[in-house]
Amino acid sequence: MIPASSTVLEVRDLRTYFHLAEGTLKAVDGVDLTIEPGQTVGVIGESGSGKSVTAQSILQIVTTPGAIESGEIILRRSDGSLVDLAKLNPRSREIRDIRGAEISMVFQEPMTSLSPVHTIGAQITEAIELHITRDKRKAKGLALDMINRVGISNPAQRYDEYPHQLSGGMRQRAMIAMALSCSPSLLIADEPTTALDVTVQAQILELMKELQDEFGMAVMYITHDLGVIAEIADVVNVMYLGRVVERASTIELFKNPLHPYTQRLLNSIPRLGRRGQGRLDAIRGSVPVPMNPPPQCGFASRCDEFITGKCDAAVPSLVDMGNEHFVRCYLHSEESEPQYA
Ligand SMILES: Nc1ncnc2c1ncn2[C@@H]1O[C@H](COP(=O)(O)OP(=O)(O)OP(=O)(O)O)[C@@H](O)[C@H]1O
Ligand SMILES: [Mg+2]
Repeated sequence: MIPASSTVLEVRDLRTYFHLAEGTLKAVDGVDLTIEPGQTVGVIGESGSGKSVTAQSILQIVTTPGAIESGEIILRRSDGSLVDLAKLNPRSREIRDIRGAEISMVFQEPMTSLSPVHTIGAQITEAIELHITRDKRKAKGLALDMINRVGISNPAQRYDEYPHQLSGGMRQRAMIAMALSCSPSLLIADEPTTALDVTVQAQILELMKELQDEFGMAVMYITHDLGVIAEIADVVNVMYLGRVVERASTIELFKNPLHPYTQRLLNSIPRLGRRGQGRLDAIRGSVPVPMNPPPQCGFASRCDEFITGKCDAAVPSLVDMGNEHFVRCYLHSEESEPQYA
Protein backbone atom coordinates (compact mmCIF):
# COMPACT_ATOMS: atom_id res chain seq x y z
CA MET A 1 0.00 0.00 0.00
CA ILE A 2 1.56 3.28 -1.06
CA PRO A 3 0.32 6.33 0.87
CA ALA A 4 -0.52 9.69 -0.74
CA SER A 5 2.54 11.66 -1.75
CA SER A 6 2.78 13.86 1.34
CA THR A 7 1.43 11.59 4.10
CA VAL A 8 3.84 11.36 7.06
CA LEU A 9 2.40 8.22 8.59
CA GLU A 10 -0.17 5.73 7.41
CA VAL A 11 -1.33 2.95 9.74
CA ARG A 12 -3.22 0.15 8.00
CA ASP A 13 -5.22 -2.54 9.76
CA LEU A 14 -2.81 -2.67 12.68
CA ARG A 15 -3.26 -5.50 15.17
CA THR A 16 -1.25 -5.69 18.40
CA TYR A 17 -2.03 -8.54 20.76
CA PHE A 18 -0.86 -9.59 24.23
CA HIS A 19 -0.52 -13.33 24.50
CA LEU A 20 -1.40 -14.05 28.12
CA ALA A 21 -1.92 -17.32 29.98
CA GLU A 22 -5.69 -16.60 30.08
CA GLY A 23 -5.93 -16.00 26.34
CA THR A 24 -5.24 -13.42 23.65
CA LEU A 25 -5.83 -9.81 24.65
CA LYS A 26 -6.50 -7.91 21.42
CA ALA A 27 -5.45 -4.42 22.55
CA VAL A 28 -5.33 -3.08 18.98
CA ASP A 29 -7.53 -4.98 16.56
CA GLY A 30 -7.60 -3.32 13.15
CA VAL A 31 -6.60 0.34 13.48
CA ASP A 32 -6.29 2.65 10.48
CA LEU A 33 -4.84 6.17 10.81
CA THR A 34 -3.47 8.75 8.41
CA ILE A 35 -1.32 11.69 9.48
CA GLU A 36 -0.46 14.53 7.10
CA PRO A 37 2.44 16.98 7.57
CA GLY A 38 1.69 19.73 10.09
CA GLN A 39 -1.64 18.15 11.01
CA THR A 40 -2.86 17.55 14.57
CA VAL A 41 -4.62 14.21 14.68
CA GLY A 42 -6.60 13.59 17.85
CA VAL A 43 -7.22 10.13 19.28
CA ILE A 44 -9.91 9.88 21.94
CA GLY A 45 -11.63 7.04 23.74
CA GLU A 46 -12.20 5.70 27.22
CA SER A 47 -9.55 3.96 29.26
CA GLY A 48 -8.55 0.62 27.77
CA SER A 49 -9.54 1.45 24.18
CA GLY A 50 -6.02 0.84 22.86
CA LYS A 51 -4.79 4.41 22.39
CA SER A 52 -1.44 3.93 24.13
CA VAL A 53 -0.78 0.51 22.62
CA THR A 54 -1.36 2.03 19.15
CA ALA A 55 1.24 4.73 19.94
CA GLN A 56 3.66 2.16 21.37
CA SER A 57 3.23 0.02 18.26
CA ILE A 58 4.21 2.91 15.99
CA LEU A 59 7.50 3.30 17.89
CA GLN A 60 7.97 -0.46 18.37
CA ILE A 61 8.04 -0.09 22.17
CA VAL A 62 5.20 -2.50 23.03
CA THR A 63 6.17 -4.47 26.12
CA THR A 64 6.23 -8.27 26.10
CA PRO A 65 4.13 -10.37 25.88
CA GLY A 66 2.67 -7.84 23.47
CA ALA A 67 3.59 -7.89 19.81
CA ILE A 68 2.44 -6.52 16.48
CA GLU A 69 0.55 -9.36 14.80
CA SER A 70 -0.17 -7.78 11.45
CA GLY A 71 -0.77 -4.56 9.60
CA GLU A 72 1.37 -1.80 8.18
CA ILE A 73 2.83 1.37 9.70
CA ILE A 74 4.25 3.29 6.75
CA LEU A 75 6.48 6.23 7.68
CA ARG A 76 7.74 8.72 5.13
CA ARG A 77 11.30 9.37 6.27
CA SER A 78 12.93 12.78 6.03
CA ASP A 79 14.77 11.71 2.86
CA GLY A 80 11.41 10.85 1.26
CA SER A 81 11.85 7.07 1.43
CA LEU A 82 9.08 4.89 2.85
CA VAL A 83 9.58 2.34 5.61
CA ASP A 84 7.12 -0.08 7.20
CA LEU A 85 7.81 0.30 10.93
CA ALA A 86 5.68 -2.77 11.70
CA LYS A 87 8.26 -4.91 9.92
CA LEU A 88 11.30 -3.53 11.75
CA ASN A 89 12.96 -5.39 14.57
CA PRO A 90 12.33 -3.36 17.78
CA ARG A 91 16.07 -3.46 18.46
CA SER A 92 17.16 -2.63 14.92
CA ARG A 93 19.43 0.29 14.11
CA GLU A 94 16.79 1.71 11.78
CA ILE A 95 14.04 2.03 14.40
CA ARG A 96 16.52 3.49 16.90
CA ASP A 97 17.49 6.11 14.32
CA ILE A 98 13.82 6.94 13.76
CA ARG A 99 12.87 7.20 17.45
CA GLY A 100 13.62 10.65 18.76
CA ALA A 101 14.85 11.95 15.42
CA GLU A 102 11.85 11.49 13.13
CA ILE A 103 9.15 10.41 15.57
CA SER A 104 9.23 11.60 19.18
CA MET A 105 6.91 10.80 22.00
CA VAL A 106 5.82 12.67 25.13
CA PHE A 107 3.95 10.97 27.94
CA GLN A 108 1.72 11.85 30.87
CA GLU A 109 4.55 11.03 33.23
CA PRO A 110 7.76 12.88 32.25
CA MET A 111 9.90 10.43 34.19
CA THR A 112 8.98 7.81 31.57
CA SER A 113 11.38 9.55 29.23
CA LEU A 114 13.65 11.53 31.55
CA SER A 115 16.37 9.82 33.53
CA PRO A 116 16.47 10.76 37.24
CA VAL A 117 20.25 10.42 37.42
CA HIS A 118 21.25 12.79 34.62
CA THR A 119 20.79 16.54 34.38
CA ILE A 120 18.14 17.94 32.06
CA GLY A 121 20.85 19.54 29.92
CA ALA A 122 22.94 16.40 29.60
CA GLN A 123 19.91 14.40 28.45
CA ILE A 124 18.83 16.88 25.79
CA THR A 125 22.41 17.34 24.60
CA GLU A 126 22.84 13.58 24.33
CA ALA A 127 19.74 13.28 22.12
CA ILE A 128 21.12 16.01 19.86
CA GLU A 129 24.57 14.42 19.73
CA LEU A 130 22.97 11.11 18.79
CA HIS A 131 20.90 12.44 15.91
CA ILE A 132 22.07 15.92 14.81
CA THR A 133 25.69 16.76 15.47
CA ARG A 134 28.67 15.13 17.14
CA ASP A 135 30.11 18.56 17.94
CA LYS A 136 29.64 18.75 21.72
CA ARG A 137 29.65 22.55 21.95
CA LYS A 138 27.20 22.93 19.13
CA ALA A 139 24.95 20.28 20.70
CA LYS A 140 25.01 22.07 24.05
CA GLY A 141 24.14 25.37 22.33
CA LEU A 142 21.16 23.77 20.60
CA ALA A 143 20.03 22.19 23.89
CA LEU A 144 20.19 25.53 25.71
CA ASP A 145 18.24 27.14 22.91
CA MET A 146 15.55 24.49 23.12
CA ILE A 147 15.31 24.77 26.93
CA ASN A 148 14.78 28.48 26.44
CA ARG A 149 12.20 27.95 23.67
CA VAL A 150 9.94 25.76 25.81
CA GLY A 151 9.71 28.57 28.35
CA ILE A 152 12.02 27.29 31.08
CA SER A 153 13.51 30.36 32.73
CA ASN A 154 17.26 30.58 33.45
CA PRO A 155 18.27 27.98 30.84
CA ALA A 156 21.94 28.04 31.83
CA GLN A 157 21.11 27.20 35.43
CA ARG A 158 18.36 24.69 34.60
CA TYR A 159 20.71 22.92 32.22
CA ASP A 160 22.67 21.59 35.20
CA GLU A 161 19.65 20.61 37.27
CA TYR A 162 18.17 17.14 37.76
CA PRO A 163 14.51 16.41 36.94
CA HIS A 164 13.54 16.21 40.64
CA GLN A 165 14.66 19.81 41.10
CA LEU A 166 11.97 21.01 38.66
CA SER A 167 8.22 21.45 39.22
CA GLY A 168 5.79 19.13 37.39
CA GLY A 169 5.06 21.72 34.71
CA MET A 170 8.78 22.43 34.17
CA ARG A 171 9.57 18.70 33.96
CA GLN A 172 6.85 18.42 31.31
CA ARG A 173 8.49 21.28 29.41
CA ALA A 174 11.89 19.59 29.71
CA MET A 175 10.43 16.40 28.25
CA ILE A 176 8.93 18.39 25.37
CA ALA A 177 12.29 20.13 24.83
CA MET A 178 13.95 16.74 24.57
CA ALA A 179 11.25 15.39 22.26
CA LEU A 180 11.53 18.39 19.94
CA SER A 181 15.30 18.82 20.07
CA CYS A 182 15.80 16.91 16.83
CA SER A 183 12.86 18.51 14.95
CA PRO A 184 10.86 15.31 14.44
CA SER A 185 8.34 15.18 11.60
CA LEU A 186 5.86 13.54 13.98
CA LEU A 187 5.29 14.05 17.69
CA ILE A 188 3.14 11.49 19.49
CA ALA A 189 1.69 13.00 22.65
CA ASP A 190 0.03 10.50 25.00
CA GLU A 191 -1.96 12.46 27.60
CA PRO A 192 0.95 14.86 28.13
CA THR A 193 -0.98 17.39 30.19
CA THR A 194 -3.47 15.26 32.12
CA ALA A 195 -1.56 15.39 35.41
CA LEU A 196 -1.06 19.16 35.31
CA ASP A 197 -3.28 21.90 36.69
CA VAL A 198 -5.48 23.72 34.19
CA THR A 199 -3.31 26.84 33.84
CA VAL A 200 -0.10 24.91 33.22
CA GLN A 201 -2.01 22.59 30.88
CA ALA A 202 -3.15 25.59 28.81
CA GLN A 203 0.43 26.93 28.69
CA ILE A 204 1.83 23.60 27.52
CA LEU A 205 -0.84 23.27 24.81
CA GLU A 206 -0.10 26.80 23.63
CA LEU A 207 3.59 26.00 23.56
CA MET A 208 3.06 22.82 21.55
CA LYS A 209 0.98 24.76 19.02
CA GLU A 210 3.67 27.42 18.67
CA LEU A 211 6.43 24.89 18.19
CA GLN A 212 4.27 22.93 15.76
CA ASP A 213 3.78 26.05 13.63
CA GLU A 214 7.48 26.80 13.80
CA PHE A 215 8.74 23.30 12.99
CA GLY A 216 5.84 22.17 10.79
CA MET A 217 5.64 18.83 12.53
CA ALA A 218 2.55 16.65 12.68
CA VAL A 219 1.14 15.74 16.08
CA MET A 220 -0.81 12.67 17.12
CA TYR A 221 -2.54 13.76 20.30
CA ILE A 222 -4.03 11.12 22.60
CA THR A 223 -6.40 12.18 25.36
CA HIS A 224 -9.63 11.53 27.26
CA ASP A 225 -10.24 15.24 27.29
CA LEU A 226 -12.75 16.32 24.64
CA GLY A 227 -12.17 19.98 25.53
CA VAL A 228 -8.49 19.68 24.65
CA ILE A 229 -9.32 17.83 21.43
CA ALA A 230 -11.83 20.50 20.39
CA GLU A 231 -9.14 23.10 20.88
CA ILE A 232 -6.17 21.53 19.12
CA ALA A 233 -7.13 18.72 16.72
CA ASP A 234 -7.81 19.07 12.99
CA VAL A 235 -9.11 15.52 12.71
CA VAL A 236 -10.43 13.24 15.46
CA ASN A 237 -10.27 9.45 15.63
CA VAL A 238 -12.60 7.91 18.18
CA MET A 239 -11.26 4.58 19.44
CA TYR A 240 -13.22 1.83 21.11
CA LEU A 241 -11.94 -1.60 22.05
CA GLY A 242 -8.93 -1.62 19.78
CA ARG A 243 -10.55 -0.06 16.72
CA VAL A 244 -11.24 3.37 15.26
CA VAL A 245 -15.05 3.53 15.29
CA GLU A 246 -15.39 7.04 13.89
CA ARG A 247 -13.19 9.63 12.20
CA ALA A 248 -14.01 13.13 10.99
CA SER A 249 -12.71 16.66 11.05
CA THR A 250 -13.06 18.08 14.56
CA ILE A 251 -15.82 20.48 13.54
CA GLU A 252 -17.78 17.75 11.74
CA LEU A 253 -17.39 15.25 14.58
CA PHE A 254 -18.67 17.62 17.25
CA LYS A 255 -21.51 18.81 15.02
CA ASN A 256 -22.62 15.50 13.64
CA PRO A 257 -21.41 12.48 15.63
CA LEU A 258 -22.74 9.29 13.99
CA HIS A 259 -21.56 6.37 16.11
CA PRO A 260 -23.68 5.75 19.24
CA TYR A 261 -20.42 5.56 21.21
CA THR A 262 -19.26 8.99 20.00
CA GLN A 263 -22.70 10.43 20.75
CA ARG A 264 -22.51 9.10 24.31
CA LEU A 265 -18.96 10.39 24.75
CA LEU A 266 -19.98 13.88 23.61
CA ASN A 267 -23.03 13.78 25.87
CA SER A 268 -20.80 13.05 28.83
CA ILE A 269 -19.16 16.50 28.63
CA PRO A 270 -20.50 18.77 31.34
CA ARG A 271 -22.15 21.76 29.66
CA LEU A 272 -22.03 25.31 30.89
CA GLY A 273 -25.10 26.02 32.95
CA ARG A 274 -25.77 22.34 33.57
CA ARG A 275 -23.19 22.12 36.30
CA GLY A 276 -24.39 20.83 39.61
CA GLN A 277 -27.54 19.40 38.07
CA GLY A 278 -26.79 15.88 39.11
CA ARG A 279 -25.11 13.12 37.14
CA LEU A 280 -23.55 13.48 33.75
CA ASP A 281 -24.97 11.33 31.01
CA ALA A 282 -22.35 8.68 31.70
CA ILE A 283 -21.87 5.76 29.39
CA ARG A 284 -23.52 2.67 30.79
CA GLY A 285 -21.11 -0.11 31.77
CA SER A 286 -17.35 -0.03 31.28
CA VAL A 287 -14.98 -0.91 28.46
CA PRO A 288 -14.73 -4.72 28.39
CA VAL A 289 -11.29 -6.31 28.36
CA PRO A 290 -10.73 -7.55 24.80
CA MET A 291 -9.74 -11.06 25.88
CA ASN A 292 -10.60 -13.54 23.10
CA PRO A 293 -13.24 -11.09 21.83
CA PRO A 294 -16.10 -12.49 19.74
CA PRO A 295 -16.29 -11.24 16.14
CA GLN A 296 -18.86 -8.49 16.73
CA CYS A 297 -19.07 -4.75 17.21
CA GLY A 298 -17.07 -3.99 20.37
CA PHE A 299 -19.72 -1.57 21.62
CA ALA A 300 -22.57 -4.11 21.22
CA SER A 301 -22.93 -4.86 24.93
CA ARG A 302 -23.34 -1.17 25.86
CA CYS A 303 -25.27 0.15 22.87
CA ASP A 304 -28.90 1.31 23.13
CA GLU A 305 -29.37 0.89 19.38
CA PHE A 306 -28.02 -2.65 19.18
CA ILE A 307 -29.42 -4.67 16.25
CA THR A 308 -29.71 -8.38 17.09
CA GLY A 309 -28.32 -10.63 14.36
CA LYS A 310 -26.17 -7.85 12.94
CA CYS A 311 -24.13 -6.08 15.62
CA ASP A 312 -23.47 -9.39 17.40
CA ALA A 313 -22.73 -11.30 14.20
CA ALA A 314 -19.75 -9.51 12.66
CA VAL A 315 -17.45 -6.51 12.91
CA PRO A 316 -18.77 -3.63 10.82
CA SER A 317 -16.16 -1.99 8.61
CA LEU A 318 -15.16 1.66 8.65
CA VAL A 319 -17.41 3.20 6.01
CA ASP A 320 -16.91 6.53 4.25
CA MET A 321 -20.05 8.65 4.71
CA GLY A 322 -18.65 11.41 2.48
CA ASN A 323 -16.98 14.63 3.52
CA GLU A 324 -14.08 12.63 5.04
CA HIS A 325 -16.42 11.33 7.72
CA PHE A 326 -15.96 7.61 8.49
CA VAL A 327 -17.99 5.42 10.82
CA ARG A 328 -17.89 1.76 11.82
CA CYS A 329 -21.52 0.96 12.67
CA TYR A 330 -24.38 -1.10 11.20
CA LEU A 331 -26.79 1.80 11.72
CA HIS A 332 -24.89 3.49 8.92
CA SER A 333 -23.99 0.62 6.63
CA GLU A 334 -25.87 -1.87 4.52
CA GLU A 335 -23.11 -4.45 4.43
CA SER A 336 -24.05 -7.86 5.72
CA GLU A 337 -20.87 -9.81 5.03
CA PRO A 338 -18.49 -10.09 7.98
CA GLN A 339 -15.33 -8.10 7.23
CA TYR A 340 -13.08 -9.99 9.58
CA ALA A 341 -12.84 -13.64 10.38
N1 LIG B 1 1.60 -4.52 29.04
C1 LIG B 1 0.35 -4.97 28.94
N2 LIG B 1 0.04 -6.25 29.23
C2 LIG B 1 -1.22 -6.71 29.09
N3 LIG B 1 -2.25 -5.98 28.68
C3 LIG B 1 -2.01 -4.70 28.35
C4 LIG B 1 -0.71 -4.12 28.47
N4 LIG B 1 -0.78 -2.83 28.08
C5 LIG B 1 -2.06 -2.60 27.75
N5 LIG B 1 -2.81 -3.72 27.91
C6 LIG B 1 -4.25 -3.87 27.64
O1 LIG B 1 -4.50 -3.41 26.33
C7 LIG B 1 -5.75 -2.72 26.26
C8 LIG B 1 -5.50 -1.34 25.71
O2 LIG B 1 -4.70 -0.60 26.62
P1 LIG B 1 -4.17 0.88 26.38
O3 LIG B 1 -3.17 1.15 27.45
O4 LIG B 1 -3.72 1.04 24.97
O5 LIG B 1 -5.48 1.75 26.61
P2 LIG B 1 -5.63 3.34 26.56
O6 LIG B 1 -6.69 3.61 25.55
O7 LIG B 1 -4.31 3.96 26.38
O8 LIG B 1 -6.20 3.63 28.01
P3 LIG B 1 -5.90 4.86 29.01
O9 LIG B 1 -6.83 5.94 28.55
O10 LIG B 1 -6.27 4.33 30.36
O11 LIG B 1 -4.47 5.24 28.90
C9 LIG B 1 -6.32 -2.72 27.68
O12 LIG B 1 -7.27 -3.78 27.77
C10 LIG B 1 -5.10 -2.99 28.54
O13 LIG B 1 -5.48 -3.66 29.72
MG1 LIG C 1 -3.12 5.22 27.56
